[in-house]
Amino acid sequence: MVDPVQPKINNDISPKFLRWAGSKTRVIPTFMEVVPTFNTYHEPFCGSCALFFSLAPQSATLSDANPALIRTLKAVRDHPDAVYERLLCFEWSEAGYYRIRDQGIEDDDEVNLAAKFIFLNANCFNGIFRLNKAGKFNVPYGGHRAGRCPSLERLTEASRLLKNGGDIAGRF
Ligand SMILES: C[S@@+](CC[C@H](N)C(=O)[O-])C[C@H]1O[C@@H](n2cnc3c(N)ncnc32)[C@H](O)[C@@H]1O
Repeated sequence: MVDPVQPKINNDISPKFLRWAGSKTRVIPTFMEVVPTFNTYHEPFCGSCALFFSLAPQSATLSDANPALIRTLKAVRDHPDAVYERLLCFEWSEAGYYRIRDQGIEDDDEVNLAAKFIFLNANCFNGIFRLNKAGKFNVPYGGHRAGRCPSLERLTEASRLLKNGGDIAGRF
């Protein structure tokens, strides 16, 4: 049996734990200057939830057409410790990436699914989410930019904000 290769833990302060193609991360400072006062925050194409995590709203609805993403957000909200423990069991290397990619993201267990989703997201090329016609995740390994595992503190803070924000829906 191969010893798991330990991940590099990403200890950035922000609770955003996914990379996402088209993420608003870079324009968050500009957005933060113009966000009006609001009661409930609605993000219909939430992806990595970059603005949500920066605003940390007391009431929010997050939606996305990607069911695996929605299940991942719910699993991190409800079981951040278990998701983190599962992440540490993976082999954080190119070979480990292709092994999990070959298994596929689908899993009946919410924690396993979330861990695989976050692992593939952390290690794939540019944080792209792409399925082939057969529904298999087929993004290549991300090379030198791959391999940053969200810290337990980050997932715990994400869980707290997702609980605060409340409503995570499958499709807007
Ligand atoms: C560019 S990403 C959003 C990035 C996000 N704002 C961020 O900062 O990470 C677009 C998202 O829209 C979702 N999406 C695309 N079409 C959709 C639809 N018809 N309904 C709901 N979500 C959709 C995709 O799954 C994807 O996660």
